[in-house]
Amino acid sequence: MMNDLIKLIDENLDKFLPIEYPEELFKSMRYTVLLEGKRLRPVLCLEICRCLGGKIEDALPTACAIEMLHAQTLIHDDLPCMDNDDFRRGKPSNHKVFGEATAVLAGDALISYAAQVILRNSKNLPADVLLQLLDDFCTAAGARGVIAGQVVDIEAEGHPEKHCAEKLDFIHEHKTGDLFKLAIVSGARIAGGSCEQIEDAKKFARDFGLAFQIADDILDVVSDFETMGKTLGKDAQSGKLTYVTMYGLDNAKCKLSCLLDSCDVIINKYNSEILREIVKGIRKRVGI
Ligand code: IPE
Ligand code: IPE
Ligand code: MG
Ligand code: MG
Ligand code: MG
Repeated sequence: MMNDLIKLIDENLDKFLPIEYPEELFKSMRYTVLLEGKRLRPVLCLEICRCLGGKIEDALPTACAIEMLHAQTLIHDDLPCMDNDDFRRGKPSNHKVFGEATAVLAGDALISYAAQVILRNSKNLPADVLLQLLDDFCTAAGARGVIAGQVVDIEAEGHPEKHCAEKLDFIHEHKTGDLFKLAIVSGARIAGGSCEQIEDAKKFARDFGLAFQIADDILDVVSDFETMGKTLGKDAQSGKLTYVTMYGLDNAKCKLSCLLDSCDVIINKYNSEILREIVKGIRKRVGI
């Protein structure tokens, strides 16, 4: 079931992003987008849409656009001026293959390209829904979204002990939570969800987004390259402000477990095997 969705997403990512001129730019954009990732954000978008009675086909352009935006955040996150990571998704990072200039430009290009994937391919969506999707997309991609989180993440680097819990939560909410919120709430909007359903989706997204980044913080300490496809142990090395550096490994696991319990409550409302599988996968990887 989950694998069927991933296959559909992969086919459509390929279709929505053909190589054009200048080829080097499009190759760089396609490189990170098409590398094997977990595809969690597009899967969440499609599955929430289905759970609320919408058609998966109607959500496909948005789901793929959000994965493209996610790939952009990964490309820029790995740059030497950011986290300076040489590996992503088990392969050399974008700038290692295409050079820094092309990687920066490919990331820039992906943001507006992805917005147009939604605009040009969402034929069945009413104009008001489309406008709301694009407004949400721009918020998540920009200075009130991922970029805000990334700026504060970099600002806090090197002296994590000086910072407070509110700052840590701001970083996690924006650098990671905002794309999950975008994926989940967009799925609900495309399905024509009621105000109550949109509110439920937002609550689920808040808990899930924070849980996901706490898990990533924990896995940076306890996992390995083969499982994660990226160099680990770097958060401690660069003095990142994370749940592990602020609260310690056991407390971080405890907080994660509570958040996942709270996700389960909403998942029971959706009665979705795929959502259960995703949460179970996080518990298993982290060992809780
Ligand atoms: C990595 O996200 C960036 C974080 C928010 C921690 P994922 O762990 O979803 O990465 P992929 O898409 O599977 O590569
Ligand atoms: C994830 O933060 C946030 C974004 C990529 C926007 P991290 O820097 O912890 O992600 P990884 O660990 O490099 O995947
Ligand atoms: Mg980072
Ligand atoms: Mg990083
Ligand atoms: Mg990380």
